[in-house]
Amino acid sequence: MTTRASLHGLWSSQFTFVLAVTGSAVGLGNIWKFPYIAGSNGGGAFVAVYLVCVAVIGLPIMMSEVLIGRRGRRNPVATMLLVGEEEAGQRWWRWVGAIGVVAGMLILSFYSVVAGWSVAYVFKTANGELAGHTDGEITAVFDNLVASWPLLFGWHTLFMLMTIAVVARGVQRGLEQAVRILMPALLILLITLLVYAMRHGEFAAGLTFMFRFDFDALTAESVLVALGHAFFTLSIGMGAVMAYGAYLPEGTSVGTTSLAVVIADTSIALLAGMVIFPIVFAHGMDPAEGKGLLFHSLPIAFGNMTGGAFFGTLFFILLTFAAWTSSIGLIEPAVAWAVETRDVSRAVAAWTIGGIVWLLGLGTVFSFNVLADVNFWHGTFFENIDHLATNVLLPLGGLLISVFAGWVMCRNSTAEELDIGTGYLYRGWRLLARWIAPAGVLFIFMYSSGLLGWLRGLNA
Ligand code: PHE
Repeated sequence: MTTRASLHGLWSSQFTFVLAVTGSAVGLGNIWKFPYIAGSNGGGAFVAVYLVCVAVIGLPIMMSEVLIGRRGRRNPVATMLLVGEEEAGQRWWRWVGAIGVVAGMLILSFYSVVAGWSVAYVFKTANGELAGHTDGEITAVFDNLVASWPLLFGWHTLFMLMTIAVVARGVQRGLEQAVRILMPALLILLITLLVYAMRHGEFAAGLTFMFRFDFDALTAESVLVALGHAFFTLSIGMGAVMAYGAYLPEGTSVGTTSLAVVIADTSIALLAGMVIFPIVFAHGMDPAEGKGLLFHSLPIAFGNMTGGAFFGTLFFILLTFAAWTSSIGLIEPAVAWAVETRDVSRAVAAWTIGGIVWLLGLGTVFSFNVLADVNFWHGTFFENIDHLATNVLLPLGGLLISVFAGWVMCRNSTAEELDIGTGYLYRGWRLLARWIAPAGVLFIFMYSSGLLGWLRGLNA
């Protein structure tokens, strides 16, 4: 057993750790992103690939990240360096931590803009701005919001300030409390909305869209998007879980905690889909319309509901909190790195890193208005940052993390940290971490880049 102590304190219990990682996992990825990308990628088959990726690639990588984090007990860069040296005398693994730190900052730069929409909608629903209007008027509210860069700028700035404020104070205090209350509240509200969707939406059509596995509709690009989303939604591949794992007390079960987080995260995403698609179909909207899907569909439901202003406000408050607990996970690896290696206080680190992310976020702010027509590679600036971080850096980071835990770390160390014996559970994890997860990521990279087709062409 290593005896290294964490430099930032420990979680008060295993349950708190589960809450914190769930708080980081459950966010805009589940409620905003999952429905819109499932909708744009044809529904069912995409959902199937996403679920398979979560189970056979996401879960073992999440376990790997927690165990590496607890072993190293430092920020992801230092942890990968320390454990890599200890296990194999290799120093270059720190670059895996560095990729993660960068990916987290890139993701936060657009995450904050979208979280800003959610904050804006707290006020819009509370003001009654969305009640008593036609569907078209309600969807126009969103379109007008993103068309105005000063508004997006303001909301983005506000959300970044919220994130910096919490991280500057240290993660444990404010956040543990918030997650404890807000996560269950979010779940209850989603179930309330589910009842609404069942009674007033095209529920059967919604379910068919999500669960009819029509693989013909699946493109190579959608497979990569499903893989990237599995990483994004579970917060893995970039060291967030590793950073949180560094604060995990000894003697807690890495396996059970990871499984709990994966189940909670996936259930919330599926629930969000089951709320949104029935509403989309009942109002003749297009499930493939993209980023505005959530902000177009739910306000319509709230507009037609008794007590809609109340429930709507509550919903966007909870969504904001879900985004908040995630944004902290996105910035924590970079901040922990700065505190440990740049010899600055937590507050200075949080403000500096937060400032850089805020600046980068302006690119996303302008992607919806002044720069909306500037398209290259995968689309607007926002779409490129998202694609690069989510579909390239996270899977790459995850691939290297599972290779590290499966091949570089010795059996004794991983068995000791996982603490699930050396029986079939351990062997199962190791099989997934050594073979299935890396092979799965590589296969999808090759498939979606066309390399696989090209190789097949060579054989034909
Ligand atoms: N998992 C978060 C979400 O789904 C996003 C996130 C990614 C948070 C990586 C932290 C680290 O919204």
